[in-house]
Amino acid sequence: MKITVKPGASHEEFANRILFATEENGPLGYDLPDGVAKRFAQARELGDFGGKRGKTCLIYADEADGGGRWLLAGLGSGEKLDARAWRAAASAAQKALAAKECEEALVILPAGAQATELVVGLILSGYKYDLFFKEASDRGKHLRSTVLRPADGEAIEVAAERGRIEAEGVMHARALMNGPGNEVNPAALAETAKEIAASSDGRIATRVMGEQELEADGCKAILAVGQASANESQLVIMEYAPKSGEAEKTVVLVGKGVTFDTGGISLKPGALMEEMKYDMGGAAAVLGLFHALAHLDLPLKIVGLVPAVENMPGGGAYRPGDIIVTRSGLSIEVKNTDAEGRVVMSDALDYAKQYEPDLLMDLATLTGACVVALAHEAAAICPNEAGEAFVEALRASGDRTGERVWPMPMYDEYAELIKSDVADVCNTGGRYGGAITAAKFLQKFADHSPWIHVDIAGMAWTGKEREHTPKGGNGFGVRLLLDFLGGL
Ligand code: BES
Ligand code: MN
Ligand code: ZN
Repeated sequence: MKITVKPGASHEEFANRILFATEENGPLGYDLPDGVAKRFAQARELGDFGGKRGKTCLIYADEADGGGRWLLAGLGSGEKLDARAWRAAASAAQKALAAKECEEALVILPAGAQATELVVGLILSGYKYDLFFKEASDRGKHLRSTVLRPADGEAIEVAAERGRIEAEGVMHARALMNGPGNEVNPAALAETAKEIAASSDGRIATRVMGEQELEADGCKAILAVGQASANESQLVIMEYAPKSGEAEKTVVLVGKGVTFDTGGISLKPGALMEEMKYDMGGAAAVLGLFHALAHLDLPLKIVGLVPAVENMPGGGAYRPGDIIVTRSGLSIEVKNTDAEGRVVMSDALDYAKQYEPDLLMDLATLTGACVVALAHEAAAICPNEAGEAFVEALRASGDRTGERVWPMPMYDEYAELIKSDVADVCNTGGRYGGAITAAKFLQKFADHSPWIHVDIAGMAWTGKEREHTPKGGNGFGVRLLLDFLGGL
């Protein structure tokens, strides 16, 4: 979607106009033709439209009033015009006009509008994964161009551009998550990282390790999980530094990149196995973040690490009972080849040590148990002791962006459950507390730094369309990370 800011733009130049209302007031911030104002007032009197968040009201103007469509979008109560209100109203407006096959609209902003969130809502609500449809009529419909008219005296260019950069990053992550396993394989993730670096104006450098380099580096855990796949395993390394100014802190982000998870020899049941193409949702979040970072200057050194593998069964597959000596030297007893995420993450977390990060974070679609605990309303966050200092800020970012997170207890006792008789750690911890025992496993490889693990298994995939999130892969984590990193 093309976004243009045009102060003083007049409704007369457009056939479709979007305006906003609260439950108390509206339409806000524009002198409407009398006939139009009257019809909106009528809608409110009749109780058809009360300004509720995410509701819309469409009217058609008489020729004398300039004709065309006027769409009023509800922000909810004017008392709490938060980020979500702006995203929801913009999403609803975009969808309502797209449903009428409109291509262009004027968006009239009242004073104090949050332009970043508005643009995020406009763009992200129009996303559909439609790459593979032959007929154009099967592809998604969305506004192609919007012209934003700021309130008098307000400059919104920077905020709107920020929204565009955020949304593009999220859409990049969505495309990767929805991409099928036969296209989005480990090499494709590596290729994407290189493309992002190439368009970053020098901010990002990318390096990729294939199986030979992984062998030489001791990444036996990554290699083990990928060893039955025809697709070569990779470790993708991205390093970001701002174009101007000093990087004050170093943050390392690890994203689980299992491009398809069959479960391996501990094969998953067939039902819904196709969804396991999104088992690289952590990697998608990291790549989507870097897509945005390519156009931003933050005073941070940010390293992205993506262990990318495909978990397949086969004659060459790793087995239950195998003992893997990982990069860190710690050994893993494999009890279930479907607990592969933590295995590949172990080498990547250990690789992070060389950067001496001020904060190490990882994002992973790690456990079904996390979905049992929190359903689809929040990602689980699991910090080590030094990571606890960052939890409140991360939660606040989650609330602001709508990508919510919730902390789990990380008592030492949980580590008892992943003790092995034959190795330093076992890759499963039994039925109970599965999200936490998975985190305790990762902690053994992450404890060199302040660390937070984010289990996004329940959040990366949406079963039913919501506000600005489509059905399917949704790019969870990109905006959470952008907001959080911006505050470090
Ligand atoms: N990728 C899955 C976790 C998952 C489940 C993600 C549902 C998204 C939705 C992970 O690799 C896995 O299979 N975990 C197992 C671990 C178990 C074998 C200890 C699980 O959660 O069942
Ligand atoms: Mn698995
Ligand atoms: Zn998995």
